[in-house]
Amino acid sequence: MAVEAMLEVLEKRRSVKPMMLAAPGPSAAELTRILSIAARVPDHKKLVPWRFIVFEGEARARIGEVFAAACKAEEKEPPSEVRLDIERKRFLRAPLVVAVVSSPKAGAPIPDWEQILSSGAAAFNLSLAATALGYGVCWITEWVAYSPMVQAALGLAGGEKIAGFVYIGTANVTPEERERPALADIVTRY
Ligand SMILES: Cc1cc2nc3c(=O)[nH]c(=O)nc-3n(C[C@H](O)[C@H](O)[C@H](O)COP(=O)(O)O)c2cc1C
Repeated sequence: MAVEAMLEVLEKRRSVKPMMLAAPGPSAAELTRILSIAARVPDHKKLVPWRFIVFEGEARARIGEVFAAACKAEEKEPPSEVRLDIERKRFLRAPLVVAVVSSPKAGAPIPDWEQILSSGAAAFNLSLAATALGYGVCWITEWVAYSPMVQAALGLAGGEKIAGFVYIGTANVTPEERERPALADIVTRY
């Protein structure tokens, strides 16, 4: 039953570490579907306060050069060759990475806070769509999301931020359950 299948995706979803995401990633048609679902989120006043940057194939190595250069320029201590190699390969951990950019519209009649929340919803809808298609998914930021050099290379305008990098691929592990908060600790009744 469709409802049960959907609830099962929600109840069982777990992040899969990027290192555990192998090829194949989503096909072109699946990616279009994933991005369309990501764009179908609550959005007060229909401002579209988010956008997506797709990294596939050799683009993942190309952005790796930016990561290595940013690491050299922004770290206090000169990074080792091992560290630079990790940076070059950062996006090669998975076949597909999608950057979700929070892009609040300045001067809009909606607080930035609500626009930023919408970008989180977009990142998670994207994650859930890929999960429902059977892929392993990980939504992370890491230092690269906050690096001014990386942000410039990605063409982020003033006010834009990286909501996350969503790594997608074929999971080669089944992650174990992790503890979740007890409802008694987080739910009250008014
Ligand atoms: C905005 C955001 C950024 C995150 N960044 C990282 C990160 O940089 N590194 C990390 O290990 N987990 C990060 N996480 C957490 C993972 O996405 C994930 O939730 C966590 O590993 C727990 O796994 P679960 O999703 O299966 O509960 C981030 C989560 C969010 C919402």
